[in-house]
Amino acid sequence: MANSKYEYVRNFERDEHLLPNTWIVVRIDGRGFHKFSHHYGFKKPNDARALDVMNLAAQHVVKILPDVILAYGVSDEYSFVFHRSTALFERRNAKLVSTVVSTFTAAYVMMWSSFKLDDRGDGKLDIDMLPTFDARAVCYPSWENLRDYLSWRQVDCHINNLYNTTFWSLVQQGGMSQTEAEEFLKGTLASDKNEILWSRFGINYNDEPEMFRKGSVVYREYALENTPSTNTNTNINTRTRSGGGQGRTKGPEKKVEVEVETNDDHVEGDVDDDGDDLRDNSEKQVLSKTQAEKMRKARQRAKIVTAHVDIIKDEFWVRRPWLRSGRPGRPIE
Ligand code: GTP
Ligand code: MG
Repeated sequence: MANSKYEYVRNFERDEHLLPNTWIVVRIDGRGFHKFSHHYGFKKPNDARALDVMNLAAQHVVKILPDVILAYGVSDEYSFVFHRSTALFERRNAKLVSTVVSTFTAAYVMMWSSFKLDDRGDGKLDIDMLPTFDARAVCYPSWENLRDYLSWRQVDCHINNLYNTTFWSLVQQGGMSQTEAEEFLKGTLASDKNEILWSRFGINYNDEPEMFRKGSVVYREYALENTPSTNTNTNINTRTRSGGGQGRTKGPEKKVEVEVETNDDHVEGDVDDDGDDLRDNSEKQVLSKTQAEKMRKARQRAKIVTAHVDIIKDEFWVRRPWLRSGRPGRPIE
């Protein structure tokens, strides 16, 4: 069939394929949520039901995109991590980003109506104040880079939440104006804010809800691995943006990875930090395509959970090796 004379315009289209064998993170962020939250009367500094709507929308994305191994959310943002082996949409940037953000937004709108977050309580949204999100994709070449990215988001959650909790306590319970509270908190350290909360308002920050302090992690759950060697000495409160390897030991993590490999008949000798299942070898590629499909199906059947836990320490990851390997774990008995 002859092409139409217009068809040449296709040649203007450009696809960006994201780097192979890298962890793809699509982060969405609410547009103008400062205004949005004010318009619909969200509780300050945290509105648990508003966060529930975000979490349910994220669960939906994880459910229908099995290549997403984990999502992490705080405030009006959510990061969706695609396994580095994903071939979804041939890793086309625009397809991945637009699918994640539109799926999330559609689910957010749908969940909104059941939560009736607005002041009127009718679950309706106003046409001039609809929830919209921007999104971007970033590729992380190593597991360590991905872990650091997620740690960065969780540390940010902690820093912002401690500040906001103290700020709004000073305003709501302490009778300060917002300007006064801002001035008062200038130059204070985390320990000062903890002290202000405790001495002035009897609030122990560590008793605040975990969803507010740690954010939300959405992932597929299988039977947890027993890992006595797990290190547990990294405290989210003590790590800072720039604070690198504190408490981050690689030893136990590598050991578990090897054990998992063995269980799955994938003994390949020394498992390096970043690569074991993407080899430039056609036989492997065919094999891994079939395996990838099998794994995708298994992932579709798995239970998706939302937890408010520390993802900076190794423990979370060591006990859930399927997140890194992409292979389904043992079913929960
Ligand atoms: P852009 O993302 O640049 O469009 O701006 P934004 O207004 O969305 O601000 P940003 O993403 O930097 O921060 C999110 C904002 O959402 C916060 O500053 C809060 O004002 C608001 N927000 C998010 N979650 C809550 C909540 O639970 N309660 C309240 N009251 N506000 C929230
Ligand atoms: Mg925003």
